[in-house]
Amino acid sequence: MTETHFKVVLITGGAGFIGSNFIRLFLERHRDVDVVNLDKLTYAGNLESLRDVESNPRYHFYRGDISDESFVSRLFHEWHFDAVINFAAESHVDRSILGPAAFIDTNVRGTMTLLEVAREFGVGRYLQVSTDEVYGSLGPSGKFTETTHISPNSPYSASKASADMLVRAWWKTFGMETLITRCSNNFGPYQFPEKFIPLMIANALQDKKLPIYGDGMNVRDWIYVEDHCEAIEAVLYKGKTGEVYNIGGGNEVANIEMAKLILSKLGKPDSLLEYVKDRPGHDRRYAMDSSKIETELGWKPRRSFADGIELTVNWYLSNEEWWKRIITGEYQSYYKLQYEQR
Ligand code: NAD
Ligand code: TYD
Repeated sequence: MTETHFKVVLITGGAGFIGSNFIRLFLERHRDVDVVNLDKLTYAGNLESLRDVESNPRYHFYRGDISDESFVSRLFHEWHFDAVINFAAESHVDRSILGPAAFIDTNVRGTMTLLEVAREFGVGRYLQVSTDEVYGSLGPSGKFTETTHISPNSPYSASKASADMLVRAWWKTFGMETLITRCSNNFGPYQFPEKFIPLMIANALQDKKLPIYGDGMNVRDWIYVEDHCEAIEAVLYKGKTGEVYNIGGGNEVANIEMAKLILSKLGKPDSLLEYVKDRPGHDRRYAMDSSKIETELGWKPRRSFADGIELTVNWYLSNEEWWKRIITGEYQSYYKLQYEQR
C-alpha cells in the first residue's frame, strides 16, 4: 500500500485531551508537515496542554468554532489543507444529559460545516474521530465490530452517531475521501478531570470521595491515549476511503475495580469509595473488536494496561498544577451542579 504524503493538516479540537496528545506525536514523527490546530477553547480546551509545542514553527493555533462556516472557510482559504482530522467535540456523557444542545451544535452541525467546507476546497482526506459509544451497550459477552448496528443511548453518543452518518453521506453522495475511527475509552496525560480515571485520581489525592455510579460493575475497554493516536495516524495514511475502523485497548475493567486499583496505587483507603445514583441510560459494557485495523493496517496497541495506568497516575502526581487549576475554576461549579441533581 502506498502512503499518502501531506504538507498541511488541520486538527480540530487540538487543545483537548486526545487532540493535544495527537499533535505532540504527529509533529514529532512528521517533520515536514505543518499542523494547524483549530479549537474553540471550551471548558475542555487548554493551551497549557500544548506548552511544549507552541514554539514549534510547524505548529499554528487558531481559536474558532467548527460550526462557524465563514471562519472555517477563511481558514481553508488561508491554508491549503491536504487532510482534516476532526477531534473537536463536546465529549462528556454526563454533560450531554444535563444540556444536549451544545452537543448537537458542535458534534452534528460542526461536523457538517467542516465536511461542507472541506468538500468545497477539495481536501484530500477527512478523518472523523468517533467512538465505540455509537454502538450502544453490550451484554456480558461479545464485542463491537464495524458492522454492529448503531444504537446510541446518550445524547453524546447520539450526536456522535449522527456525525458518523453525515460523514458516510458525504462519502457516498459527494465522493469525499472520508474515514471514520471508533475508539474505546482513552486514558493518559492531559485528560480533563471530569472523566472517570482522572477524576478518581484527583479526588483520591485530595482525600475526597470517589463517586461510583450504580453498582460499579459497568465495564469499559481502556486504551492508552498514545495507542489511539497511533491508530489514527495509521488510518489517516493507510486507511481505505469510506471505511470505518474500530480501535480498542483490549483491557476490559469494571469501574469499581479501576477505582480500587487507583486507590491502591496512591496508598489511599477503599473507604473513599462512594456508591452514588446511577447515570440515566448508563451503558453496561463496551468492548471493541479491533481485528480489522490490526489485519489491514498493521496497528496494535503497544502499551500494556499496567504500564499505562502507572504512567497516568504518575503524570497526575507530578502535574498537580495542571489539574488543580482546572478543578478550582469552572469545573467545580459543574461538579456541584451534578451533585445537586442527584
Ligand atoms: P475533550 O473534551 O478533551 O476535547 C475536545 C476539544 O474540542 C476541546 O479542546 C474543545 O475546546 C474543542 N471544541 C469543542 N467544541 C468545539 C467547537 N465547536 N469548535 C472547535 N473546537 C471545539 O475531548 P477528547 O476526550 O480529547 O475527545 C476528542 C475526540 O475523540 C472527540 O471527538 C471524542 O468524541 C472522541 N473520542 C473520545 C474518547 C475518549 O475516551 N476521550 C474515546 C473515543 C472517541
Ligand atoms: P466516563 O469517563 O464519563 O466515560 P464514558 O461514560 O464515556 O464511558 O465514565 C467511564 C465510566 O465510569 C462509566 O461507566 C461511568 C463511570 N463513572 C462513575 O462511576 N463515576 C463518575 O464520577 C464518572 C465521571 C464516571
